[in-house]
Amino acid sequence: MSADLSKTAYDHLWMHFSRMADWADTPVPTIVRGEGAYIYDDRGRRCIDGLSGLFVVNAGHGRRELAETAARQAAELAYFPVWGYAHPRAVELAERLAHLAPGDLDKVFFTTGGGEAVETAWKLAKQYHKLTGNPGKYKVISRAVAYHGTPHGALSITGLPALKAPFEPLVPGAFKVPNTNIYRAPVHGDDPEAFGRWAADQIEQQILFEGPDTVAAVFLEPVQNAGGCFPPPPGYFPRVREICDRYGVLLVSDEVICAFGRLGTTFGCQKFGYVPDMITCAKGMTSGYSPIGACIVSDRVAEPFYRAGTSFLHGYTFGGHPVSAAVALANLDLFDREELNQGVLDREADFLATLSRLRDLPIVGDVRGNGFFYGIELVKDKATKETFTEEETERVLYGFLSRALFENGLYCRADDRGDPVVQLAPPLIAEQGLFDEIEAILREVLTQAWAKL
Ligand SMILES: Cc1ncc(COP(=O)(O)O)c(C=O)c1O
Repeated sequence: MSADLSKTAYDHLWMHFSRMADWADTPVPTIVRGEGAYIYDDRGRRCIDGLSGLFVVNAGHGRRELAETAARQAAELAYFPVWGYAHPRAVELAERLAHLAPGDLDKVFFTTGGGEAVETAWKLAKQYHKLTGNPGKYKVISRAVAYHGTPHGALSITGLPALKAPFEPLVPGAFKVPNTNIYRAPVHGDDPEAFGRWAADQIEQQILFEGPDTVAAVFLEPVQNAGGCFPPPPGYFPRVREICDRYGVLLVSDEVICAFGRLGTTFGCQKFGYVPDMITCAKGMTSGYSPIGACIVSDRVAEPFYRAGTSFLHGYTFGGHPVSAAVALANLDLFDREELNQGVLDREADFLATLSRLRDLPIVGDVRGNGFFYGIELVKDKATKETFTEEETERVLYGFLSRALFENGLYCRADDRGDPVVQLAPPLIAEQGLFDEIEAILREVLTQAWAKL
């Protein structure tokens, strides 16, 4: 192997969602170590992990107990499938998740990641309706700009046309409604309650347009990630719940990011007081020390699958992997012991207040989010909310901002899947000192970005 890892990376490591050509003459940033809320690159530079890797490392880096748990489990039983057999860690984790999940969400179908959990939920919804006498209910409704993963089904649910275009035709029957971006609300922008009612009613309209007998499920994130952290307006989820119940449509809470403390609760739906029919989750379940995902299903939805002679014909070789399940259990123990969720609830207002200081910069149009999950929307003109042109996005967001933030010691995400945003989601151990550091780096780099516009 070459000593120059970043050159070898360009030669052999096909990076995800990356323009590989950009790395032909530029070293690929290579992260070699993590400790707490910091990561270190191969040149020994320390950087704040402002995105918990990819909304994953919720307990922070360098947790030896999670690493040691993984090693112990691998030595005891490295692998066995959950296809008609059980192993202790999968059983214990399923029971623990069922206890932590709200309402009667008691059945846990393991996957290896988030996209597979979303894929599972759609297939499960389709078969559920077939088993309960509604074979025509197969369509799904989700929101504009929302990201739900890359398998064909999950990608169809995703509301980002540019991400889907290369792979059309996708799975038929996936329809989109407006999201809860109140900063750019087409109506009721100054009245969150009215906006929430309107946004929820768009789901009802879509169900009626398609025909209630054809709609299987609605997929929503508690706080929508893509587009830059859109929290739900007041009253939104209770109304969506009512609408789904009225038309026999399953509500899937896609919590691949929002579960496991990102919003200060184990599940994101608990922050906003609704009970979905299914929760999809992954990422923070192990804080990234080993991969796993899950679709957590209500007893009501699971019931027809538990009838004699019936099975859900779906599964993954590595779903519920013993090492990942063991690490997830240890991670949940760590969450309890260190009261990580409560810490987020205690400090979320301070984090938001610290980031909101950036509103004095001309380039900052909006700061929004919940828990430890925030988006800073960048604009060219605060008064008109004019956004960047394509050329400016290319030059300033991609050509300058991402790299400059990293060079200045902050790994986070500069994104234009909706309008240009910078996203922050640090490990849940972050405290005021780190919030201040993040704000100072953003202030410096956003000021330089403004000069380049
Ligand atoms: C809401 C949501 N759903 C699904 C996914 C896909 O998860 P994965 O990348 O683990 O397949 C993501 C990934 O970020 C996500 O944010």
